[in-house]
Amino acid sequence: MHNDIQEVLISEEEIQAKIRELGSKLSAEYEGRNPLVICVLKGAFIFMADLVKTITVPLELDFMAVSSYGASTKSSGVVKIIKDLDVSVEGRDVLIVEDIIDSGLTLSHLIEMLQNRKAKSVAVCTLFDKPARRTVDLQADYTGFVLPDAFVVGYGLDYAEHYRNLPYIGILKPEIYSK
Ligand code: XMP
Ligand code: MG
Repeated sequence: MHNDIQEVLISEEEIQAKIRELGSKLSAEYEGRNPLVICVLKGAFIFMADLVKTITVPLELDFMAVSSYGASTKSSGVVKIIKDLDVSVEGRDVLIVEDIIDSGLTLSHLIEMLQNRKAKSVAVCTLFDKPARRTVDLQADYTGFVLPDAFVVGYGLDYAEHYRNLPYIGILKPEIYSK
């Protein structure tokens, strides 16, 4: 275990087993279709890579980076696009792959945007969910793990850009935040 981690919440083995489960559900759901799978950078990059290997239908990938504004200042919130998609979503079955849903603001704006761009369908697969923190009415179509209201790192998730490479999800020692 990394020296800065106080507790491992979900092990690498548990994460990989859950991803195989999600992959078989998604393979059944998208049978006969050719979904456009969208990774929300940066946090979802490891999940995306592991997940698509477990999906057996033909698919395409694209990547998007957004930053969430207004969660603390405005209840409506605004999402700024840092990196937009390379391809059009018009008429496509879109699957958004997210690392974690917290307030839900980022995702609700992303879904609205993709619908405005005339996606045929928009579904969400998130590895982690913190429903206690939700400020908008939003539920993922596919969820890996429900987490308690604690800040977690690892498996793509960072604190100040560190710890993304940990293969498990954990909680940092409190002294790390006060550094
Ligand atoms: P929303 O819009 O749902 O934002 O509030 C979701 C985004 O917030 C980040 N987030 C976290 N990042 N550990 C992290 O490293 C966490 O515990 C955590 N909770 C939320 C993350 O970028 C996610 O996409
Ligand atoms: Mg994120």
